Amino acid sequence: MLHNAINFQGLKKTFHTLRGPVQALRGLDLQVKPGEIFGYIGVNGAGKSTSIKVLLGLIRPSAGGAWVFGEPAGSLAARRKIGYLPEVANYHEFMSAAELLMMHARLAGVPRALQAERCREALELVGLSTRKHSRISEYSKGMKQRVGVAQALVSDPPLLILDELTSGLDPFAQRDLRDIMLRLKERNITVFFSSHHMNEVESICDRAAIIHRGALQACGTIPELTENRERVEMLWEAVEVSEPVSQISKEGEASVARHEAHSFLQLAMSRGYQLKRMSSKRTNLEDVFHDITRRVDREASACSPS
Ligand SMILES: Nc1ncnc2c1ncn2[C@@H]1O[C@H](COP(=O)(O)OP(=O)(O)OP(=O)(O)O)[C@@H](O)[C@H]1O
Ligand SMILES: [Mg+2]
Repeated sequence: MLHNAINFQGLKKTFHTLRGPVQALRGLDLQVKPGEIFGYIGVNGAGKSTSIKVLLGLIRPSAGGAWVFGEPAGSLAARRKIGYLPEVANYHEFMSAAELLMMHARLAGVPRALQAERCREALELVGLSTRKHSRISEYSKGMKQRVGVAQALVSDPPLLILDELTSGLDPFAQRDLRDIMLRLKERNITVFFSSHHMNEVESICDRAAIIHRGALQACGTIPELTENRERVEMLWEAVEVSEPVSQISKEGEASVARHEAHSFLQLAMSRGYQLKRMSSKRTNLEDVFHDITRRVDREASACSPS
């Protein structure tokens, strides 16, 4: 039987803090297939890193479960299958990339005879071969992220989890890391990465998931996520505005999901706006992300006691 690379089933996690309980995950269900490049999108605090930490066995779920290629999260067998780049990584800055990788190869239990070759390969793959003897303190942020990917690769894992690989990087460094992810896919490595860069997710993912308020809100290929979600763009002129309509900015433009267009039109006209032009636009992932998170927030505030 072919197992999913990642399987989250009804995953819940509540943190008990001084301010009271925080429900970080509220029944997350998600499956990632072997060999996929999978994008994990969510606003700050959506629950991405918490679910990743459960997968690594760094924290225990309050309910539900998580599996890595069929092995329970946190077990040695599951941990051996994962290479991980945390969202905030601190390396021993006095070491060179070559030294750091050898240390990680030993820690990961790579057989002694294979250690040097694995380190060489990993550094080659991330394009750091020529700088491998420089101290990490001399590296730029982009180079440090590459060291992070190399470190995650030395144990030759079938699954790579990259938590915000490209945050804070310039567009060229982002593109380099995207190319690295594609090279990993060619080697049949499953790549699961969280990101706030929608264009990045759109350009390289086989599938993506949108997580919000600790639960899965949408999952699929980019065409699956964006189709049937056309938007309507409208140009407005304020005639005698009684009360502003929230989506209409000062310039008088509004962009709404197709299914919301009719009620929006009625509301705006009843408040004294006049429609000047209207056109429909194909949605991109960012629009979908925006629409979904807004809808979930609206539903959550409608349900919460006032
Ligand atoms: N150790 C903790 N103790 C208490 N609350 C926590 C802890 N870790 C996470 N949380 C809370 O759980 C929720 C989910 O956080 P998480 O770090 O998983 O979000 P995220 O999607 O990774 O966000 P970001 O994009 O900012 O990295 C947040 O409300 C956060 O404050
Ligand atoms: Mg995070």
